[in-house]
Amino acid sequence: MKIALSGYGKMGKIIEKMALDRKHEIVLIIDQDNQHEMTPENLRQADVVIEFSTPHSVLANIQKCFEAGVPVVVGTTGWYEQMEQIKQQCLDNGNAFLWASNFSVGVNIFFHVNKMLAKIMNRYPYYEVQVEEIHHTQKLDAPSGTAITIAEGILDNLENKKGWKNVLTNDGAEEPYTVKPDELLIESLRIENVPGTHTVVYDSEVDSIEFKHTAHNRNGFALGAVLAAEWLQGKQGFYSAQDMFNFNV
Ligand SMILES: NC(=O)c1ccc[n+]([C@@H]2O[C@H](COP(=O)([O-])OP(=O)(O)OC[C@H]3O[C@@H](n4cnc5c(N)ncnc54)[C@H](O)[C@@H]3O)[C@@H](O)[C@H]2O)c1
Repeated sequence: MKIALSGYGKMGKIIEKMALDRKHEIVLIIDQDNQHEMTPENLRQADVVIEFSTPHSVLANIQKCFEAGVPVVVGTTGWYEQMEQIKQQCLDNGNAFLWASNFSVGVNIFFHVNKMLAKIMNRYPYYEVQVEEIHHTQKLDAPSGTAITIAEGILDNLENKKGWKNVLTNDGAEEPYTVKPDELLIESLRIENVPGTHTVVYDSEVDSIEFKHTAHNRNGFALGAVLAAEWLQGKQGFYSAQDMFNFNV
């Protein structure tokens, strides 16, 4: 496949390597300094665009891909309030779009089991649930997109929680968090040089259940994004990684 990269930071560079390893060709690389090269003509040289840039640039970049009629895989996080608008545009224009807050296989297994666990925990309301996420200090958004997907998986399946609330700390200092009984707390912690940890904790007076995913590096995200680009080829419509992984067991 011919791939265009939109965003050439930490992820863009690893995606380039993964794509070349899988015998794809990189035909265009767009970053902050050469945005003017993201023209319809240049984009149309590619079979698919893989977008890992910033929360501030992602929407404009998606629009450019839609205008050029080129399928786009989006890994950038921090833009999900605009999801409905992007979905409508995609469907109205007959584009191909796939997004994921996290492309790693392990995290997508985690997402699925998280929903099953929340369903079971409805029977045991004396467990209090919370989500914890740890990322590197350069991360622009909080909570992480992955933590939001985890929280939504819980909210869709656990009857006594109705919305989530985020608390961000940079030093791990304990703070008195106040959440309403029907709110799900997402605790975000920022530490130097960590690729990402997500934990769901169900805590009771007698014991705790901890369900945890730890990324050892960024390679899993990059491979998942390239697999998504391969999966999207020849399709039209609005998809998430859940459609690609399809863990209906
Ligand atoms: N979905 C996933 O699996 C997954 C995994 C890791 C990171 N992410 C997300 O991907 C995004 C990028 O992560 P990163 O670690 O590579 O960040 P990064 O800061 O290393 O890279 C972002 C790049 O985007 C470039 N950029 C700025 N404006 C641009 C524009 N208008 N067009 C194109 N590029 C532009 C920056 O110059 C930079 O090189 C973040 O939102 C992050 O949360 C998602």
